[in-house]
This record gives sequence, structure tokens and C-alpha cells, in this order.
Amino acid sequence: MKILVTGYTGQLGYDVVEEGLKHGLDMHGTGRNNLDITNEKEVNQYVETLYPDAIIHCAAFTAVDKAEDDKDTCWDVNVNGTKHLVNAAKAIGAKFIYISTDYVFEGKGIVPYSEIDQTDPIGYYGLTKFEGEKVVQETLDNWFIVRISWVFGINGNNFVKTMLRLAETRDELNVVGDQYGSPTYTFDLAKLLIDMIQTQKYGVYHVSNEGYCTWADFAKEIFKQSNKMVTVHPITTEEYPTRAVRPKNSRMSKDKLEDNGFSRLRSWEDALQHYLKQLNEEVN
Ligand SMILES: NC(=O)c1ccc[n+]([C@@H]2O[C@H](COP(=O)([O-])OP(=O)(O)OC[C@H]3O[C@@H](n4cnc5c(N)ncnc54)[C@H](OP(=O)(O)O)[C@@H]3O)[C@@H](O)[C@H]2O)c1
Repeated sequence: MKILVTGYTGQLGYDVVEEGLKHGLDMHGTGRNNLDITNEKEVNQYVETLYPDAIIHCAAFTAVDKAEDDKDTCWDVNVNGTKHLVNAAKAIGAKFIYISTDYVFEGKGIVPYSEIDQTDPIGYYGLTKFEGEKVVQETLDNWFIVRISWVFGINGNNFVKTMLRLAETRDELNVVGDQYGSPTYTFDLAKLLIDMIQTQKYGVYHVSNEGYCTWADFAKEIFKQSNKMVTVHPITTEEYPTRAVRPKNSRMSKDKLEDNGFSRLRSWEDALQHYLKQLNEEVN
């Protein structure tokens, strides 16, 4: 199976390519340097020439705060870029996985969101990712939409790396303790995506590692597992103002995964343990 993976220079795309290669699949990863998805002509030419059986679309404008100030670029990448890839996939009948986000929900309450719950995107980033979902659903037949949250992986920047960096100079940190969600380890998610793309169990799925926590809980666990003596003080969202609004409830139910015969990912604590080992191996 030949698979085009966008976002190869980012966190998730990198691990998807690595995982596919382990399965002997013919993987083709792209970054902005070799395929700018906002360029329709370039996308058409690339996809027609490569003629993949499937596209796993991980590329996105992911800077949620910056999105509020650079709306044009955010729209261009997340909506137009997705449209270009979706149209190119349709032309050759390729399967499609679109990676989406918990930001398609309003993020209120305490109940985990299911795939059939009402969407109400939060912030401009959330809006553009939701528009991307609509493009996929309205254009294609053979599609998966996979909504994920709080991503961390070896290739790129994320909350874990930020906490480890701060631990070098700080012994106390204020971290938001009233936003709830689940971290998603790209190494684990990549296995699921490679499994999924080889099926015809199309539709919307929620995926993350198992268990829920707050950012403060996540930070505490990072310091505990990496033996860093940093005290975490949980603070409220209001005490840590950001340009883009953050969802207070990013909990997503993963029941549908299991119902459709896919495996749930391991707990976020176990995933973190594996990740820290992976980081150390890279450093040592
Ligand atoms: N990060 C999170 O916490 C999070 C949470 C929920 C959902 N998601 C979704 O998960 C997916 C993967 O996120 P990630 O964290 O792996 O992303 P990431 O590390 O920020 O990487 C983004 C990727 O998109 C590429 N890209 C940006 N603009 C492009 C363009 N014009 N043409 C081609 N490629 C372009 C980047 O390429 P360059 O490196 O060349 O710029 C990079 O490879 C995204 O769809 C994101 O919306 C992420």
C-alpha cells in the first residue's frame, strides 16, 4: 500500500511514516519544503504523480494563539490546504484520514464528548479544523476523521518538552489545573492510524491515550517520572490568560474505537514513560 503522509516534519506525521515503514508499507512523507498544501497546482501534480492508495493528512497550522492574529494563513493551510488534498484524493480514489481536534467542541461541562455530540468550534483554529472536517465529509466517500488532543511526540515541540526545559531553571511552576483532557502520544496513535487505513471502517473517531487529567496533573507526572524536583501549583484558566480561548473540557469518549474492533491506546502515564525513555535514548 502506498501512503502519502502530510506533516512529516511535525510530530504526528513523522511517527506515522516511521510506523508504516515498520509494516513494509510504501510511505511518502511531506513537509512544507517539498509540498506546500496551500498551492493547489503543486498538490494536484504531486498526488497525480505519486498516485497513493491513501493520504494521511497530519499537516496543519497548529499554533492556536497565533491563529487569532494570522487568520488568513491559518485558513489557507487548514481549510484550503485540506480542500486541495481532498480533491486530489477524490480524483484518484484514494482513502483519506483527516486529523482533527478536540477544539471542534465548545469544551464545557464534564462529560466526555462522543463522536455524535454537537460540534461548536472554539477559537479560530478550532473553526478552521472544523471547516476541514466538513470538506472531507462533503467531498469524499472513503474517509476517516480522527479527533485527537494534547499531542506529544519525538519530532517537534510539545508540553512535555516545555516542562522538561523549564525544570532546568525552575523549582516551582504555576500550571493550569482546571482544564481536563487526555494526552495523545503520536507513537501510539501512529500504530492505530496505520491499522485503520488498512480497513474500511470509515467515519469519525475520537482517539487519545486512556485516562483524563489536567495540565497540572500532567506536569506533576512528567516531573515525577523524570525525577525532577519541581513543585507544581495548579492555577485557574483565568490566572493564565492566553490569546486563544482553551477548552475546559477536552475529555473525549473512545468507546467507538473499541466498538469497531480497534484497540484503545495505553494509559497516558504509560505512554509518557515510553516517551521519556525515547527522549533519553535520543539525547544519550
Ligand atoms: N499539537 C496538538 O496538541 C494537537 C492537538 C489536537 C489536534 N492536533 C492536530 O494533529 C495534527 C498533527 O499535529 P502536530 O502536533 O503533529 O503538528 P506540528 O508538529 O505542528 O506539525 C505541523 C506540520 O504541518 C506542516 N505544515 C504547515 N503548513 C504547511 C503547508 N502550508 N504545507 C505543507 N505542510 C504544512 C508543517 O510543515 P513544516 O514543518 O514544513 O512547516 C508540519 O509538518 C494536526 O492536524 C493538528 O491540527 C494537534
